[in-house]
Amino acid sequence: MSETVIVYLNGDFLPLDEAKVSVLDRGFIFGDGVYEVIPVYGNQPFRLEHHLQRLQDSLNAIQINNPLSTNEWKDIITHIIKQNKDGGSDQSIYLQITRGVARRDHSFPDDTPPTVFVMSTPLNPPEQTLLNSGIDAVTLPDIRWLNCHIKAISLLPNVLFRQQAIDAGATEAILLRDGMATEGAASNLFIVKNDVIITPAKSSKLLPGITRDLIVELAVSNGIQCEERDISETELRNADEIWISSSTKEVMPVVKLDDLEVANGKPGPIWSKMYQLYQACKASLRSAAAAD
Ligand code: PDD
Repeated sequence: MSETVIVYLNGDFLPLDEAKVSVLDRGFIFGDGVYEVIPVYGNQPFRLEHHLQRLQDSLNAIQINNPLSTNEWKDIITHIIKQNKDGGSDQSIYLQITRGVARRDHSFPDDTPPTVFVMSTPLNPPEQTLLNSGIDAVTLPDIRWLNCHIKAISLLPNVLFRQQAIDAGATEAILLRDGMATEGAASNLFIVKNDVIITPAKSSKLLPGITRDLIVELAVSNGIQCEERDISETELRNADEIWISSSTKEVMPVVKLDDLEVANGKPGPIWSKMYQLYQACKASLRSAAAAD
């Protein structure tokens, strides 16, 4: 990563420490905005079309007009990747759109341009030791609103969930609503029972994860049975394997839930297979990029 991190803010590329927004920005005042996190391997954004589609869905849901075309988004992201590729590490692109700067009033302001911000941070894959040992999770009541499919920047519940997990000596929180498991604090949820992968169906109770969708696709194309349906708390606690997935954590095995071992307390064989399939996808993106 170069010494000077270059970011995009409202039409300009500039050093991170020169990027400033008004304290009246509705992102700062109300958390009124949406975001995306896009992994970049071999300088290629992974599943960019999927991320831009989910961004559009989030913008539609909160009634912000997309300020940029798909090609403009691609150009900005490509430029940010190029500007920050020193050192050759993989990157994580964070982009955020808020409803812009206006006098504080809950109702939408008239004719205010949205604030658009894009940055890159180095992306390190989960450490091998952590993958070998697996991670611990705790269950928590999912007290969020019923629009969890929107990738909103207002993440206070998620921040508190994650911190509660860490305070309990775990890595992630797995959320329970009405006796059903929904997702993690910043990840989607999978279980395995009798060699079948199960993940909650998409709904307003969870984020439609891009990594989740890829895992479902990989299962189907590799002949692993996969069901998208509710997971009850009892099923969660009796699972043969539990995994979490996200663009930054990829797919990680959970080996302890609320201090009790998941099955034999070791990462399971179906996780191991899925992890390899996921790594193969990353590798093919890198080799396609190298061939260009
Ligand atoms: N979060 N569910 C929640 C609540 C999330 O915040 C995330 C990702 C996911 C997984 O989605 P995806 O596979 O598209 O990354 C599910 C990102 C990584 C974050 O907030 O940093």
